[in-house]
Formats: sequence, structure tokens, C-alpha cells
Amino acid sequence: MRYFGNNIITLVNNLLISYTDQGPVKAPVVIFIHGFPLNKTMWKKQVEVLKEDYRVIAYDIRGHGDSDTGTEDFSISLFENDLIMFMDKLGIDKASLCGLSMGGYIALNAIIYNPERFDSLVLSDTSCLADTPEARTKRLNVINTIFENGVSNYADESVKNLFAPESFTTKEAEIFSVREMIRNTNEESICCSLLALSARKETCHKLSDIDIPVLILVGEEDKITPPEVSGMMHENIKDSTLHVIQHAAHLSNMENPEEFNNQLQRFFEKVYKEQTITSTYTGNSIKSQLRYKLNILLSF
Ligand code: MLT
Repeated sequence: MRYFGNNIITLVNNLLISYTDQGPVKAPVVIFIHGFPLNKTMWKKQVEVLKEDYRVIAYDIRGHGDSDTGTEDFSISLFENDLIMFMDKLGIDKASLCGLSMGGYIALNAIIYNPERFDSLVLSDTSCLADTPEARTKRLNVINTIFENGVSNYADESVKNLFAPESFTTKEAEIFSVREMIRNTNEESICCSLLALSARKETCHKLSDIDIPVLILVGEEDKITPPEVSGMMHENIKDSTLHVIQHAAHLSNMENPEEFNNQLQRFFEKVYKEQTITSTYTGNSIKSQLRYKLNILLSF
């Protein structure tokens, strides 16, 4: 049985996992994976638009948002295992993934180790590289600073790196909401996630094995996972498209949702053209049926 809505709770690996599930029953499934230390609400603008044509799911990674934390040491492979168990629990055999930054690290692992479960992948503001020794030390220092100064100060400092300078005048609501997401994440989860991020393994050597369509998006001013890294991933993934999002830094989906959504829609329309035409006979809206028929006609 499928539940629809914004704050659904299900049990995965003995933890309560919170998620949003919207869109037509038989439509292709797109699962969104948030960045660190944020939560599923960062995808609000993508869910709003894509739910017309896709079954759109955004969930809270353990220790984030409204999901339980559990007692196991955090790691990217633990998060990846949670994702696969979450799909099993919801009865989803195949989906497309869209992961931003830490969400992208999880998505890359999921696709590399379970290729049969995925139709396509969107890598947003992310990287296949592991942390350098310097970056690891920096993360450990951040943990110390959080112990000393608390999560609120950490949230204030973080937003300065996540957003492009111009977003501080044009995207005040988004900055406020990201600061709140960080403030509402507990200290233990933030520190355990920082350890998990610092210990993550590189996945670059596996990129050439990926044989599903991949869209790579990156904010032009992203300093955390810069456009050059996206360019390197694009060169190594056979069926990949790279698009640099203007007026955005690390949170490109929130800083320029119009351009980001436009890219997502074009990409998924291409990936699911065949399947969606079939599903027009199983309950999608008349507008989406017309859109896909039009697409087919235009492609000849
Ligand atoms: C994120 O947005 O998920 C983080 O910036 C990832 C990282 O620090 O490596």
C-alpha cells in the first residue's frame, strides 16, 4: 500500500525514516537525496514541479530532518544501504536518483553497487573524490568548533559557504530555511556525519562502469564541489550531460530552481519518454499525456 503526503514515516533498518511521496501512482519514480546537514525540505521546489508527471520521493537520511538517528556509526555505505532498504520497503524495484553533494556521494555508491535498481542519475554539486588529508583535518577541527561554539554558530558560518554572494540579497528566504535546517539537526548527527564524510571512499575509478543516463548539474560559483570536478566526472561517465547553473553556488537547486528544474524536466522526459507514453494509459494527467505525445511527434 502506498501513502501519499509530506511527512510519512516508515520503518527501515529498525529506524523511523521520514519521507515525502507525491505524484501519480504508476509514474516513473524519482528519489531525491539531500545534502549535509540538511533535510528533504530542500527539494520543495523540485517536488512541486516534478510531481505532475513523476512519483517523487524525498526522504530524510538517518540523523537528519525527522528521521531517527540510530546507534550505528555513520558512513556513506550505511546511508546507501538505508536507501536500498527504503526502496525495498516501499516496493520500488527501479527509480531515478537525484542527489546533491552528500546525497550525490550516496547516489554514486547506490548506482555503482546496485546498477540494476536505477534508470538514471542526477549528480548535483557533488564529487567522486575522497577528502584530501587537509580536508579531513579541517572536518575534525569543525567538530571541535561545534563542541565549543554550538550548532547555531556552525549554521551561521555554513550558509556563508553554501550560497553565492548574490543569493544573500536575492534568496533570503532560502538562506533562512537552510540555516534553520542546520540548527534543527542535532549536534551528534552533524559530528557523526562529518566523520562519515571525511572517511568516504573515492568512486572516480568506477565512473566508467556507469551505463545509465547521467545529468551533472553544478552551480557556477560552487566552491565546495567546484565545476571542474563536475567536468572531470562528465568526461568519465559515458552517457552524461553537464550543465552549469548560473547565479548559484553549492545549493544550486535552491538558488536557481527555475534553471535546475528545467534541466531536470528535460532530462527525465528523455529518460522516460518510452515508459511515460505507456503510462499515459494508466492514469497520468491529460496535460502530461499531451506533452509526451507531442514530444514523440517532435522527435521524428
Ligand atoms: C554537502 O552539502 O552535503 C556537503 O557540503 C558535503 C561535503 O562537505 O563534502
